Amino acid sequence: GDNVLYLAHKHGIDLEGACEASLACSTCHVYVSAAHFDKLPEPEEREDDMLDMAPMLQENSRLGCQII
Ligand code: FES
Repeated sequence: GDNVLYLAHKHGIDLEGACEASLACSTCHVYVSAAHFDKLPEPEEREDDMLDMAPMLQENSRLGCQII
């Protein structure tokens, strides 16, 4: 699908996605700019659980494969 992980790869951006969007890793961790962050739906609990394991977690952290 056209999630941020997919789009990053399509545009040659080197973002990892070890579990291929199955919410079993945090390698697709991204920071979302403030203007966009508030427009996104809240993360599901499973995304939050995985985000908690991401290094360098910030207020605007999301998992790229879950942003559509
Ligand atoms: Fe593993 Fe996004 S690619 S959670």
